[in-house]
Amino acid sequence: MLATVTHQCYTKAKFKGKLLCCKKKKTAIMMEEEIMFKVNDNYQKLPGSYLFSTIAKKVSAFSQANPDKNIIRLGIGDVTQPIAPAIIDAMHKAVDEMGDAATFHGYAPDLGYEFLRSAIAKNDYQARGCDISTDEIFVSDGAKSDSGNIQEIFSVDNRIAVCDPVYPVYVDSNVMAGRTGEYDAKTETWSNVIYMPCTMENNFVPELPKETPDIIYLCLPNNPTGTTITKDELQVWVDYANKNGAVIIYDAAYEAYISEDNVAHTIYECEGAKTCAIELKSFSKNAGFTGVRLGYTVVPKELKCGDVSLNAMWARRHGTKFNGAPYIQQRAGEAVYSEAGKAQLKEQVAYYMNNAKTIKQGLKDAGYTVFGGVNAPYIWLKTPGEMTSWEFFDYLLENANVVGTPGSGFGPSGEGYFRLTAFGSYENTLAALERIKKM
Ligand code: MLT
Repeated sequence: MLATVTHQCYTKAKFKGKLLCCKKKKTAIMMEEEIMFKVNDNYQKLPGSYLFSTIAKKVSAFSQANPDKNIIRLGIGDVTQPIAPAIIDAMHKAVDEMGDAATFHGYAPDLGYEFLRSAIAKNDYQARGCDISTDEIFVSDGAKSDSGNIQEIFSVDNRIAVCDPVYPVYVDSNVMAGRTGEYDAKTETWSNVIYMPCTMENNFVPELPKETPDIIYLCLPNNPTGTTITKDELQVWVDYANKNGAVIIYDAAYEAYISEDNVAHTIYECEGAKTCAIELKSFSKNAGFTGVRLGYTVVPKELKCGDVSLNAMWARRHGTKFNGAPYIQQRAGEAVYSEAGKAQLKEQVAYYMNNAKTIKQGLKDAGYTVFGGVNAPYIWLKTPGEMTSWEFFDYLLENANVVGTPGSGFGPSGEGYFRLTAFGSYENTLAALERIKKM
């Protein structure tokens, strides 16, 4: 392929390629590949598409081929219950404010409105005895963005450690940044990532890695296994990180589902966590904001690399790349902490946890080996017989018309496991179980 550029253009652009110059026309003809821009090659290393996009495509193909089938979706952890009335009221009020010049709000403060940041500090931290202040909280459009973006403030030389299986965003965002080395399709692992297997053999509790990582991702209660660790076990990780100069990126998106007393609601309940941990929080799962979009990240001021403050770095990043979560959403977030909001959300969480209990018991009755579902809205089951995770996905879709998530999609140690979400409606949850029992 040949490309034509003007001679003037050629002189300015210092092309290195072979020049086939036509003086009369004052044009220079270059080999096209020599003048192409370059892409971020790291993206080319990513195998396949994002897990939940792959599943959506498969389900859509099945649905097109079987239009008469009523598919029940218990795959992606998307909520189904409506936004609580106290939150809807707050949103309506905020919408009205936006329609009046006297109360209209333009760009939000890039780190979040004070009214929301102080409600978060007071309710999620100070009420639990954790000394987290307003200026350590950064409001965002959701924990998924933050969990993908946070790696940006760390050098590309850092080595990450992840639980296996793991929420795919942590690994994929590090692949995009060029931090993970090469992909081995056979083992489905990256050469520069430290994997911490979490399987039934170790009761889904990650062990301290043999090689020392710089950045440790922990999601507790865990997505996808629905299991968690005790506060004492978490303290071991905090001590390890402080001792080894590592940082923990702690995803607490499922905190509202904790039912057992010995589980920490925030990593800052552990002594020393402020010098080694960043916490990611979401409003998606506790308040049903998957479609509203709101989350926040805590970066303590004591968290430093030498003299460099990570709090200041994240503030700089936020200021440059983010224009603040919308006013209406932030008022909705504030209502999560109102007395009425808290009571209504407690009921909503209980509704989903009743689904979790129903799925877990139903699967046990049907002879499955099941985990999770006590402190998290996910049920993690062992696939029957020798079925792989994807084989069971197809089997379930074809025979019960139920969608779940293959464990292997979360990492090699997820092979042979399968995830069902408790975020469906109770009616659909019951119907799915009836169908599974009949398979
Ligand atoms: C999941 O299904 O794992 C979650 O819904 C994904 C997410 O929260 O982004």
